[in-house]
Amino acid sequence: MAVYGPHCLNQGKIPTHVAMIMDGNGRWAMSQGQQRTWGHNEGVSSVRKVVCYTNTLGVKYLTLYAFSEENWKRPKAEVDFIFSLVARYLKAEIEELDRQNVFVAYIGDFSKLGDDVQESLAYAQKRLSKNTGLTLIIALSYGSRSEIVHACKSLLVKVQSEEMGIEDIDQEAFSRFLQTSSYPDPDLLIRTSGELRISNFLLWQLAYSELYFSDRMWPEFESWHYLEAVAQYQQRKRRYGTIHSH
Ligand code: IPE
Ligand code: IPE
Ligand code: MG
Repeated sequence: MAVYGPHCLNQGKIPTHVAMIMDGNGRWAMSQGQQRTWGHNEGVSSVRKVVCYTNTLGVKYLTLYAFSEENWKRPKAEVDFIFSLVARYLKAEIEELDRQNVFVAYIGDFSKLGDDVQESLAYAQKRLSKNTGLTLIIALSYGSRSEIVHACKSLLVKVQSEEMGIEDIDQEAFSRFLQTSSYPDPDLLIRTSGELRISNFLLWQLAYSELYFSDRMWPEFESWHYLEAVAQYQQRKRRYGTIHSH
């Protein structure tokens, strides 16, 4: 085990926004001879730890990919389990999130969510609405291509009603129609489980994010793995297409 602690990172730049694809719950559970749902359950402990560490590090925004648009294709029992877990997590952790001054927000298409799930999301949001610390953005029923198509439609409505002209459309104007319009782009994307893909997550927003892939499955992703990712991020040279400056 590497002897990383938050103090190791004092010298470098802390990312403002970290995004995470929390993957590998099912495979991890199966490897333990358990049902996939057990893996989701255990994954909640990783969420708890990661939120706490994100706060300690002073990261301002944390986006967690909890359920993709494509995940609706999974068996209903697993889908229902995941949503009830999200609702239970928010309920059980509300006091602790409040104590940590966490503000909660969501991205995704909620039209398919049950009323009870929507209510628990709204309740947590309201309860934490005055908080000014870490913004925790939970991506639920989220698909980036859909988000982009939806943004195009909203923009076209503005053009049609002549509130906007074609000449007003630029990258900045377009990004105001995305669900992430209030947040900066992620500086660091972490995906667990060893898969090297984006799986329809924040396609627009990740244009210049640093990518970090961990072989750990999400339920076994510990704080020191997170610190390793941030330490590696601090070594990266972000050039944004320009030439390297020393
Ligand atoms: C990630 O774990 C959680 C969700 C997608 C909801 P998976 O459920 O994808 O687990 P694996 O990737 O099949 O192991
Ligand atoms: C991505 O994981 C979605 C979430 C972690 C919520 P998946 O397990 O759904 O992605 P694929 O199918 O391996 O690309
Ligand atoms: Mg997966």
